[in-house]
Amino acid sequence: MGCSSSAPKESYVFRYAGDAPPPGQEPKNGKIVAGSGEEPKQKERSTQESAKDNEPQQRKSAPQLNNAVSKMRKSSSARAGGSKARDRFKMAKQASAGAEAFNMAGKARNKRIKRKNTSPYGWIAKDMHLGPHCSMDKFDVKRVIGTGLMGTVALCKFKKDDTWCALKMIKKDYVCRHKDGRHVHAERKLLNMADSPFICSLFGTFQDKKFIYFVLEYAAGGELFSRLHNKKGVFGAQTSKFYLAEILLALKHVHACGYAYRDLKPENIMLDEEGHCKLIDFGFAAKPDKEGLLHTNVGTPAYLSPEQLNHKKTGGYRMYIDWWAYGCLMFEFMTGSTPFCKNFKESSYEIYLKVLKGKINFPGYFDKDAKDLVKQLTTADVDKRIKDPEPIKNHAWFSGVDWQKVSHREAVPPHVPKLKETGDCHYFDQYGEIDTTEKEPSKIDPSVFNGF
Ligand SMILES: Nc1ncnc2c1ncn2[C@@H]1O[C@H](COP(=O)(O)OP(=O)(O)O)[C@@H](O)[C@H]1O
Ligand SMILES: [Mg+2]
Repeated sequence: MGCSSSAPKESYVFRYAGDAPPPGQEPKNGKIVAGSGEEPKQKERSTQESAKDNEPQQRKSAPQLNNAVSKMRKSSSARAGGSKARDRFKMAKQASAGAEAFNMAGKARNKRIKRKNTSPYGWIAKDMHLGPHCSMDKFDVKRVIGTGLMGTVALCKFKKDDTWCALKMIKKDYVCRHKDGRHVHAERKLLNMADSPFICSLFGTFQDKKFIYFVLEYAAGGELFSRLHNKKGVFGAQTSKFYLAEILLALKHVHACGYAYRDLKPENIMLDEEGHCKLIDFGFAAKPDKEGLLHTNVGTPAYLSPEQLNHKKTGGYRMYIDWWAYGCLMFEFMTGSTPFCKNFKESSYEIYLKVLKGKINFPGYFDKDAKDLVKQLTTADVDKRIKDPEPIKNHAWFSGVDWQKVSHREAVPPHVPKLKETGDCHYFDQYGEIDTTEKEPSKIDPSVFNGF
């Protein structure tokens, strides 16, 4: 998206599958390539979740139990083969794990309560223990706040502690029909791993017959897309710097987790209740292969890099495509449209041709340093492209940015959302009801969703 403020958003969400989309070969039906669905390991959080909130306090502490375990280990090895000792050792080990989980859940609960009582936005969940058998019954749905290609996102209240969260629901039927299991698992895996103030937190996932659910931190300030494409349609230099600095740190973190993001655009950047950025939508995130290469055609045309369009010929592309998209985003912030897509009437094919040509028309008012950085980010020759966070941070255009402050969320946001009451969602468009129409369960392969 991000071509023009008047562009209908959906018309620019374009995701495609199969082999490369060289100009002339338009992708089919926005489908995504089939995946082998690598099985994710059970997430750490689940251990915490299984610890009951009301467990008796007189349980042994984790260090005490660890001592017990090591004693058992010694005595059991002394009587090697003794099945009784083995059983006792096993039991002690389980008890130790339980106590540790209990301690951690207790700490998290205290933090949650403190935040709820002291923050003016205590009604927005910053932590949540879903328990091992989570279901929709545990939430009150307020309304749908977003839709995308795969999911419907609803603002929900967690009944247990009256905090609000965003619930991303993806139809299993859709995932199976588009052989998209690999993507939803990657999204879950990366969100579980991510730990950045500029990435939306994932509290947990669950599933029922028809849907898989991602329970996410609610970014109450709405999409950066809406903020950018308001009447004015552009951000000033300081506003652009603020958002781009936070987005840079979010991207850097995604890369440090070993993933390419592959869908950077203003619709996937949210503002939280204080006006800081939160990156969402990791449905296209993927780990490169051993050679550092990626091979799938996913993304939004206006932000695609030439090497991604050409990857069929070249054998793959690298994570650097995210920095290309970052350059497009920077241009969009300061001009109101992306460098290779000015008009929402342009077809994907026309956009690809412009990307491959690589000519950007900078308006006369465009800052000299900003122009230099955009040009370096959108250099077609990957070897010559600026593609590491450090040189970008040190570029003249970012001079004056205190990166230490930015990384601690201490930079002052240019806009602080005005939220009136708990569950305020006036920054989001109105959508219809959640579509729960029944699909033939037989068409859904349950094994695709193991781990949710
Ligand atoms: N954590 C969140 N808080 C608030 N709104 C969100 C959140 N996650 C998603 N949304 C809204 O829902 C829309 C679609 O979500 P997204 O994750 O991008 O789904 P898709 O993968 O289908 O594009 C977003 O553009 C945004 O408006
Ligand atoms: Mg999205």
